[in-house]
Amino acid sequence: MTGRKGIILAGGSGTRLYPITLGLSKQLLPIHNKPMIYYPLSVLMLAGIRDIAVITTPQDQDQFRRMLGDGGQWGISLTYIVQPSPDGLAQAYLLAEDFLDGTPSAMILGDNLFFGHGLSRLLQEADEAAGGTVFGYHVADPERYGVVEFDAAGAPVRIIEKPERPPSPYAVTGLYFLDGSAPERARAVRPSARGELEITSLLESYLGDGRLDVQRMGRGYAWLDTGTHASLLDAGNFVRTLEERQGLQTGSPDEIAYLQCWIDDDDLRARAALFGKNAYGRYLLGLL
Ligand code: TTP
Repeated sequence: MTGRKGIILAGGSGTRLYPITLGLSKQLLPIHNKPMIYYPLSVLMLAGIRDIAVITTPQDQDQFRRMLGDGGQWGISLTYIVQPSPDGLAQAYLLAEDFLDGTPSAMILGDNLFFGHGLSRLLQEADEAAGGTVFGYHVADPERYGVVEFDAAGAPVRIIEKPERPPSPYAVTGLYFLDGSAPERARAVRPSARGELEITSLLESYLGDGRLDVQRMGRGYAWLDTGTHASLLDAGNFVRTLEERQGLQTGSPDEIAYLQCWIDDDDLRARAALFGKNAYGRYLLGLL
């Protein structure tokens, strides 16, 4: 059990998914058989985190509340925080400062999906580390992301946002384990040229103090983001292929809560009854 609190950043404008997201939050869209936000929520739960804030736009909060409730069905606690306008990822730490109350945190972007053997262990190591831990992932198009520059010994020296000439193929994924100083450091971040409080600037603050670890996620992991029409469909197909081949679910908060012993047989049975008519419900019953 960790004292770390979680944040899911599920605001934003989702302009790349227009017209779908003109009237609906991206993070509520389906990835195959589950809402998108189930996947990042599952990652935090796998990390053993039970106290989680969900940051949304003002207009979408009611729908998130309807979908996720107070978290009691999974033995966790969900708190809802509004981001009045999408002013950048680092702003989450200012908005969540009271919620965090000095504790370390793990923040995950609401449109990021992680899958891989050994993920729980990787998360556990990040949870136990001091300072901050982020994950570097080898991508084909690093210029679209924050990219890590490593020195000859393999230590991170810089993180550059959307570089024209990427110093490495390692993008920083949307999962950040930071210590209790994150809100204070976020206060010192100034808006970038595009008017956002950049997470890269916050990570630079940790890096400058020698307090940031960049763990490389090897090729055995999948890191997908779902922000475009094509990547949304790809992620859905990825989940469908895996689940149909394995007969196992990925990104199920119900299953993780049960395996973590945060809910009991009766709780799981009640959840399964909600989904009685479909394969997800039958799968949950099969876990009993
Ligand atoms: P992005 O995909 O960078 O932005 P977006 O979701 O607004 O989409 P688009 O670029 O198509 O307009 O955001 C990454 C994640 O972070 C996503 O889950 C939304 C979330 N986010 C916020 O919650 N608040 C913010 O201020 C920003 C910039 C993003």
